[in-house]
Formats: sequence, C-alpha cells, structure tokens
Amino acid sequence: MFEFAPDPATPKPLLYSALAKAALDLTGGERDAIANMANIAALIWQFLPDLNWAGFYRAVGDELVLGPFAGKPACVRIPFGQGVCGTAAASGAVQIVPDVHAFPGHIACDAASRSELVVPVIGPGGLLAVIDLDSPIVGRFDEEDAQGMEIVAQLAADRI
Ligand code: SME
Repeated sequence: MFEFAPDPATPKPLLYSALAKAALDLTGGERDAIANMANIAALIWQFLPDLNWAGFYRAVGDELVLGPFAGKPACVRIPFGQGVCGTAAASGAVQIVPDVHAFPGHIACDAASRSELVVPVIGPGGLLAVIDLDSPIVGRFDEEDAQGMEIVAQLAADRI
C-alpha cells in the first residue's frame, strides 16, 4: 500500500513537490477520474496541515457539482460566478481568500472555515473542475500554497 509520512514543518515548496509526486505515483496506473480525484483529495488532506475541507467540484454545464473530498458534507451545486469556487470557475484564476467573511458571496458550507484557496483544473477542452481547500485559520493560504496547488491542479487535469 501507499504510505506517506509528510512532516508539516517542511518548507511549502518541498511539501507541495512531495504531494505532487505522491499524486502522480498514486494516479499513474489508473484512468478512472473519480478514483483519481478521490485519491488526490485524500493526499491533499494528508499532506497539508490546518485544513477542514479539501476536494473537487466538477464543471458540469454551467455549474460546479460536488466531487470527491475530505471533510464535512458540503454544498452540492455552485453556479459559475457564485462564491469563491464559482468565481475561480468563471474567471479561470486562482482565488486566495485570507478571510472568507470579507469575501462577498462566500458560500459557507462549514461554519469553521475562515480562509480558502481555490485552484481551477483546466484541460485542453477547458475547465474540468476546481480544487477547493478550506482552513479554520484566517490567512492560512499564501502565494506558495497557490503555486504548489497549481502544480497539483495541472497534474490532476491529466488524470481526471
Ligand atoms: N466556500 C465555497 C463553497 C464550497 S465549500 O467551502 C466546501 C465557496 O464560497 O465557493
């Protein structure tokens, strides 16, 4: 089986490159998109400290639909343009939200969430999904997290 023992004190660039390598290894022999999203969500949850939700919303028509995740049950459908996830989907741009209470239209699925990072997963044909990370800590996510998660999103685009 796959055993990973990440040290959360690792510098972020190293932590994200280890996460990306684990995700590549774990999804390499598998073509099922749901299985690969489930394992990538589980790896994110395992590797990154101070999260209360980590997972995928899939682009279906003109809305996002809940995909594999770790954390509490969440909102199922988010129209493009709404909330942090829908903003990332509509714009194709990473969203770093230091304080969700200051983000107009933030959709509160878990009252514990205080900051959020959403990264679009874009394939050759356009938006496939977004990866959403929530933290109970204000200001949990910075540029290094965004860059690290963009690497994870790029590899996910090939595996889902
Ligand atoms: N907060 C998100 C909704 C998804 S949950 O956090 C899992 C948003 O505003 O889009």
